[in-house]
Amino acid sequence: MIILYSQHKNMALNNTKCKKPCLSLQSSLSTTLFFIVLFTIPALLLLHTPTTSISTFTTLSTQPRAWSGDLRMAEFAWNRLTFAGHRPPPVSLKIAVFSRKWPSGSVPGGMERHAHTLHVALARRGHRVHVFTSPLDDHAPSEPHGSDNRVASGPGFLSPFIHCHEGEPGQWRYNKAWEQFEKDNQQEPFDVVHSESVALPHWLARRLSNLAVSWHGIALESVQSSIYQDLTRPDNEPISPAFNESLQGVIPKVLNEIRFFKYYQHHVAISDSCGEMLRDVYQIPSKRVHVIVNGVNEEDFREDLALGNEFRASIGIPPNASLVLGVAGRLVKDKGHPLLYEAFSKLKAKHSNVYLVIAGSGPWQQRYQDLGSQVKVLGSMNPSQLRAFYNAIDIFVNPTLRPQGLDLTLMEAMMSGKPVMASRFPSIKGTIVVDDEFGFMFAPNVESLAATLEAAVAEGAKRMRERGKKCQAYAASMFTANKMALAYEKLFLCIKNETYCNYP
Ligand SMILES: *[C@@H]1O[C@H](CO)[C@@H](O)[C@H](O)[C@H]1NC(C)=O
Ligand SMILES: *[C@@H]1O[C@H](CO)[C@@H](O)[C@H](O)[C@H]1NC(C)=O
Ligand SMILES: *[C@@H]1O[C@H](CO)[C@@H](O)[C@H](O)[C@H]1NC(C)=O
Repeated sequence: MIILYSQHKNMALNNTKCKKPCLSLQSSLSTTLFFIVLFTIPALLLLHTPTTSISTFTTLSTQPRAWSGDLRMAEFAWNRLTFAGHRPPPVSLKIAVFSRKWPSGSVPGGMERHAHTLHVALARRGHRVHVFTSPLDDHAPSEPHGSDNRVASGPGFLSPFIHCHEGEPGQWRYNKAWEQFEKDNQQEPFDVVHSESVALPHWLARRLSNLAVSWHGIALESVQSSIYQDLTRPDNEPISPAFNESLQGVIPKVLNEIRFFKYYQHHVAISDSCGEMLRDVYQIPSKRVHVIVNGVNEEDFREDLALGNEFRASIGIPPNASLVLGVAGRLVKDKGHPLLYEAFSKLKAKHSNVYLVIAGSGPWQQRYQDLGSQVKVLGSMNPSQLRAFYNAIDIFVNPTLRPQGLDLTLMEAMMSGKPVMASRFPSIKGTIVVDDEFGFMFAPNVESLAATLEAAVAEGAKRMRERGKKCQAYAASMFTANKMALAYEKLFLCIKNETYCNYP
């Protein structure tokens, strides 16, 4: 990997604290409340409408799509199509990527992981990828190199070319990145520019007609998140002042996004339901909204029964266990752990042979440990341990209360041949559990989760394996990193030249 550091070390610090565009909406309390009432109701209705439109699709979803036409008109996830990945692309594109961070060593967040997986794959396919990002975390800045395009465009160039702006590691300064981009763009224009979320703010993005932005969660989804999180509060417990205050800002945030999203030319939604919201509520013209679901590395997550059995034994699950549930991720409140904790407490009292395996750490770790020997708390895990974890369980549970984006863990579990049990969110319903065979969905409350856990226990491990096989087949067709990269490649080609928009 080639890493460039900006030479402009002496430039005046022009650090803006403004991570998101700060169109401040000066609304009085009563206006805010009015907006909440006015917009929450339609938003709720809207969040529920996809049921019908998506379920008509559901019957088709697991079959390969025979579809042809202008891809800009496609409203379904491009992952459903097949792409000729064995053939090299018709042209090598020069691609600019704006990402606040670029993963280097430490465990990256979902958005950085997506950027890395995607652009490493595109570079391997022969595209010239230039990543504009903040200084890397655990990399002492070496001598700055010049902007050496010979290296970037030479034959055999198979890694993204990383341009770190100057400053503190991980501190994103879009204006610095933009300067570097402009310099490079003047020498040889980029064919396409890709922004990970608002890495490139709208007032710069609007200057580019060849730009695509990927949204990893939008404010309209967080409306629902706020509702679910508050509903888990017991009736006799007062609302926390901080949460109450954050509620006041939810609708203004949606309005703000709707007002500035239009300045981005092409939008990539990472779930079918997000695509629908962008078209229907954000009012972005359909042909500028494209659904491409994030993928996971197929080498990292695959079925391996022997590995699973070995891991099961190593963490002390007896061979006669009737059902093993698994959950992964940070053990925090908004990932739904209060729900799972309570629902599993009830379940284990009735079924002494059911186990819960927890891969992750966080504030809820100790409480889970106190539940006794039917709960195995493993702490944070590296990718190879995670692969063993997924193989060791019968069903993966994701009780999250945050519908923003789409959790990669669901795809990882399915790729490993496991069915899933997840909160009934439009994104999960429309993109992941599109067939009843793939698992279970519950309303994010204790009663609903407890009933769903009971249903899975009643079905038993053998039935979970049958469901898991179907999950694996679907995941292999939809959620591979390779599929994601080919879909983005097609989009980027289409942005460069309309003749490439035609499919097949
Ligand atoms: C929540 O915030 C609103 C508006 O700031 C305020 O009127 C209300 O009293 C607060 N409620 C609680 C329980 O703090
Ligand atoms: C499962 O096996 C353990 C010993 O490994 C035994 O103590 C327990 O009673 C068994 N449970 C059932 C339900 O058979
Ligand atoms: C687009 O591609 C077609 C076919 O390769 C080519 O004939 C045409 O000139 C291209 N258009 C532009 C604007 O580059």
